[in-house]
Amino acid sequence: MNFTIKQNPVILGIESSCDETAAAVIRGRKLLSSVIISSATEQAKYGGVVPEIASRAHTEAVDEAVGKALSEAGVTAKQIDAVAVTYGAGLLGALLVGLSFAKSLAYTLGVPLIAVNHIRGHLAAAYLSDETLKPPYITLLASGGHTAILHTQSYTEFSVLGATCDDAAGEAFDKVARILSLPYPGGPNVQRLAESGKASIAFPQALVKNSVKLQFSYSGLKTAVINYCHTASQRGEEVNAADVAASFQCAAVDPLVKKAVECALKTGARIITAGGGVAANDYLRTTLTAECEKHGIKCVLPEKKYCTDNAAMIAAEGLIQYNAGNFAPLDLNAQAQIPLK
Ligand code: KG4
Ligand code: ZN
Repeated sequence: MNFTIKQNPVILGIESSCDETAAAVIRGRKLLSSVIISSATEQAKYGGVVPEIASRAHTEAVDEAVGKALSEAGVTAKQIDAVAVTYGAGLLGALLVGLSFAKSLAYTLGVPLIAVNHIRGHLAAAYLSDETLKPPYITLLASGGHTAILHTQSYTEFSVLGATCDDAAGEAFDKVARILSLPYPGGPNVQRLAESGKASIAFPQALVKNSVKLQFSYSGLKTAVINYCHTASQRGEEVNAADVAASFQCAAVDPLVKKAVECALKTGARIITAGGGVAANDYLRTTLTAECEKHGIKCVLPEKKYCTDNAAMIAAEGLIQYNAGNFAPLDLNAQAQIPLK
């Protein structure tokens, strides 16, 4: 089907890749509404996301989330110009719920369907907090599945300057939370505990030294935290959990911030953005802002609620794809994994 590209289209975004059922509406670059219905409380009972529970929760919530997003935006279904949906990466069963809903809606309304890569959604979140933002810029991407520094050259093109060679930063936060017996979701709880601690323990920084390509590594840091806690308990010593949390947080975040700034200086990019759940971390936000200021670099951070999973970022990336005329066929399938590049 051929579709005319409109100026300032109304785009409905739908996200269901993990445990958040989310819907949002934008008109052009203006965000009109963003609704999130989370099954995190239910998941917390099991200490992590149970895919079956996530899929069922999406099935129950998707209609309500979309209905609320439209009514809060003051938009009727007929005014929607395109439906943007996350097709991957994520939990297959969970993705299929949002995807099927989006396909039916796009077909019924006779509007284009836009396939959004979840990670590109995290990158696009920065556009929501600064309507003047345009490439080129560097992005510090840190979520539960990815950790990378990217160079966005145009709205649709980016290159990967460096990435983790094992765990993602968010995964490390979640694992350290488990070691410290903190409840799910781990990241925010490690941050909260770290606020009352001192970064006094010298854990190894999450940066692979002497590598040609810029690489991060979180598995060694995670093991160092485990060893520190085990050794202390074997000696019958009490571990100061707040100090462990604060020291881990520094070792995990400092290399990311340092390298993001270095990449900006090397490429000549004058802007750094951040995206993904770990970008909601207050220590990361403060240090990145301060380092950028020091070097005269503009720092564009999405609001915290648009760093973790949401549909506003899916609609924002949907707009980029819409303007590029990238529409998806109605036999679009979900993908559990999509390479970063
Ligand atoms: O982007 P996201 O919501 O989902 C993925 O696409 O993976 O990221 C989730 C990750 C989790 O590992 C979570 O613990 C981490 O982001 N996270 C945080 C914070 N908020 C969420 N990590 C550190 N500090 C936070 N405040
Ligand atoms: Zn995400």
